[in-house]
Amino acid sequence: MIKVDLQHSGLSITDLNEAKVKKVHEMIINKSGKGNDFLGWIEWPKTFDKKEYEKMKKVASSLRNKIDVLVTVGIGGSYLGIRAADEMIRGINHSDKVQVIYAGHTMSSTYVSQLSEYLKGKKFGICVISKSGTTTEPGIAFRALEKQLIDQVGDENSKELIVAVTDSAKGALKTLADNKGYPTFVIPDDIGGRFSVLTPVGIFPLLVAGVNTDNIFAGAIKAMDELVKGDLSNEAYKYAAARNALYNQGYKAEALVAYELQMQYTAEWWKQLFGESEGKDNKGLYPTSMIFSTDLHSLGQWVQEGARNVLFETVIKVKEPVANMLVETDADNYDGLNYLAGKSFHEINSTAIEGVIDAHVNTGKMPNIVLEFDKMDDIQFGYLVYFFEIAVAMSGYLLEVNPFDQPGVEVYKYNMFKLLGKPGVK
Ligand code: PA5
Repeated sequence: MIKVDLQHSGLSITDLNEAKVKKVHEMIINKSGKGNDFLGWIEWPKTFDKKEYEKMKKVASSLRNKIDVLVTVGIGGSYLGIRAADEMIRGINHSDKVQVIYAGHTMSSTYVSQLSEYLKGKKFGICVISKSGTTTEPGIAFRALEKQLIDQVGDENSKELIVAVTDSAKGALKTLADNKGYPTFVIPDDIGGRFSVLTPVGIFPLLVAGVNTDNIFAGAIKAMDELVKGDLSNEAYKYAAARNALYNQGYKAEALVAYELQMQYTAEWWKQLFGESEGKDNKGLYPTSMIFSTDLHSLGQWVQEGARNVLFETVIKVKEPVANMLVETDADNYDGLNYLAGKSFHEINSTAIEGVIDAHVNTGKMPNIVLEFDKMDDIQFGYLVYFFEIAVAMSGYLLEVNPFDQPGVEVYKYNMFKLLGKPGVK
């Protein structure tokens, strides 16, 4: 479901450090490396609690019947994976009954006020998500939206429209949900935020959205079964070792490039996964992203002719479209486009990929790693989540950092709390 093609990367398989890959693989499966108490995601697609899953399905189906809009409130790992899955699988302009919108990832008063205005008179529900249960951004957004919902439907009815996803025991959100009688689902202790999309964090909202989450798990299990080998025949490790080799050659940044607008948030999720996992100890590739054709008409100039030996691209090529459309013949042909008549948009998009790779690699001297995806569906989504999770574990350990912590994220929080006068922060 994901094949790694290095023919445009300037690397050959002998440039990749297979001996180290083998060692790191042992560390991953024996859980003997740094941050090993956060490796619960490795077996999760097979071992998750099936009873809790059935309960989630029931609660989600009842909520889906009562609402038109689900607001998920969360940030970072409690936000990006949901949006990535929803946009990739259902699409951006889908006509499904339930719309998913987002809060808690911004403290913009304009955004929150306008969201609140939009929800006036609408049948909405809230899924509030926070592993720590204490994050400020979702905390203040939830306080505002919870009050609005209670004002709109009353205290009793609101209890059927609010679900919390959080730690099993600790944190303010758990205390709040228990005291108010909101159903809660658990984020396992040994799965960090950015690795949590296949836990209730992603699965509950996606069930409300009507996504086939059984298929997401099927895709993740397929990846688990295929990506077990401890050498470079493992495609995820091949990708990790290739990006590590380019980093060691001096490249500072990697742009994930997708030609599918629906994958914009897959790229955002990927940025968090790689950025938070590797950007530490003054090391790590800076993960960025571009959506083509959009960015070909902006950043494309920089990619073609800007500073060299800084950035490389990792290009996602989707083999089969979920839906396709043909360019039709026009009798007048005023726009001169009849030469494309009979071709599908996907064919034209795929031809653009070939042309752009040739321009960027051969003329622009920009290394390209190509990742071939089958489709943009639920099974592929489950597969890609596991693929990138195991890849970042390998990549982080090849870099000799702990891929499972994020100490740098705390620094801004401390400053903000100090300035805001949070009790107990000096
Ligand atoms: O990867 C992580 O752990 C973080 O990005 C968190 O997901 C993010 O900070 C949100 O944390 P929480 O779910 O505790 O509110």
